[in-house]
Amino acid sequence: NGDPLVLGIETSCDETGVALVRGDTLLFDAVASSMDEHARYGGIIPEVASRAHLEAMVPTIRRALGEADVDLSEVDAIAVTAGPGLVGPLTIGASAAKALSIGLGKPLYGVNHVIGHAAVNQLVDGPFPGRSMALVVSGGHSTLMLVEDVATKVTELGSTLDDAAGEAFDKVGRLLGLPYPGGPHIDRLARDGDPEAIRFPRGLTARKDQAKHAYDFSFSGLKTAVARWVEARQDAGQEIPLNDVAASFAAAVADVLTAKTIAACREHDVDTLVIGGGFSANSQLRDMAAERCAAAGIDLRIPPLRYCTDNGAMIAALGSSVVRAGVAPSDLDIPVDSSMP
Ligand code: KG4
Ligand code: ZN
Repeated sequence: NGDPLVLGIETSCDETGVALVRGDTLLFDAVASSMDEHARYGGIIPEVASRAHLEAMVPTIRRALGEADVDLSEVDAIAVTAGPGLVGPLTIGASAAKALSIGLGKPLYGVNHVIGHAAVNQLVDGPFPGRSMALVVSGGHSTLMLVEDVATKVTELGSTLDDAAGEAFDKVGRLLGLPYPGGPHIDRLARDGDPEAIRFPRGLTARKDQAKHAYDFSFSGLKTAVARWVEARQDAGQEIPLNDVAASFAAAVADVLTAKTIAACREHDVDTLVIGGGFSANSQLRDMAAERCAAAGIDLRIPPLRYCTDNGAMIAALGSSVVRAGVAPSDLDIPVDSSMP
C-alpha cells in the first residue's frame, strides 16, 4: 500500500530493538537483549547496556532488513526512542538513527517510549477508536494515559510516585530471596497461594499533596508492608508462607492498578483499555483486568507478550502513526531526554 515504510529503533534500557512497519503492519521485529549480562548484578548496569547496544545495533538492523526482505533504500522514515530511559543507551540508538537519517536523506522522528508501549497495540488489534485509555506497566513505568490521538494527543492522568509495578515485584522478590528479576517468580508462586491470606494496604502511601495527578500510583508503602510482615514472621522464628505472601501482594498491586484505571475510564467516558509494558505479563493483573473490564463493558486489549516487552515494533508503530499524522520531523540535533514526560 501507499503508507510510508518506517524503521524503528529502541534502546532505552537493555533491549536493542529494530523493526520495520508499514501502516499498521509489522514486517519484522528484531530484538537483541543484554539481560543475561545484568542478571548477575541484580539490576541493569547502564554502562554495560550501552556497550551491548553499540555492538548489537548494526547486526540487529541488518537482521530486521534481511528478514523483512527490505533494502535500506526503501525506508521512508526513521523513528527512534528519544526518552524516557537510560541516557547512555538512548544515546546509542539516537546516534544510529541520526546516522541513518543523514545517510539515507530520510526524516528522523524522536518518539516517546511509554507512548510506544501503547501504540504497538495497533499492530495487533488495529487502529485505536477515537478515544482510549492506556495503562503502561513495566520495570520502569506505571503510567495511565488518555489517548485521544496516539500521534498527537496523549494526556498523562497518573504515574507512579515511587516504584513502578515491576520494580515493586522485583524488590519484594529480593526480600523473599527469589532470583532477579523476581516479578515472574512471584507470579508463579502467587498462582498457588491465597490472595486473601494477608490484607496488605492498597492506599496511596505517598502523601496526597505529593500526587501531581488524580490517578497517581504508589507502591513503596505496600513493599514496606510486605517487608515488615515477613520480618515479624522471621523474628518469631516462623516459616514464611511464600505462596500466600506472593498471592496477597500480587492481588494488592492488581487491585490498585485495575481499580484506578477503570475509574479513569468511567470519568473520561472511554470504553477501550490498552495495557502494555513487560509487567502486563503478570497473571494476577491480566485476570483481574479481564474480569473487571468485562463487568464494566470495557474492551480490553493486551497484545501478546513479545509486543509488551521492550522492542523496536513499538517505536516503528508509533513512528508510523506520527508520520501519517503529518507531524514535522525532529531536528537532527534532537537530544535524548531520560525523564521525558
Ligand atoms: O518492560 P519490561 O520487560 O522491561 C523493563 O521495564 O525494564 O518489564 C520487566 C518488568 C520486570 O520488573 C519484571 O520483573 C516484570 O516486568 N515482570 C513481571 C512478570 N513478567 C515480567 N512481574 C510480575 N509478573 C510477571 N509475570
Ligand atoms: Zn519499556
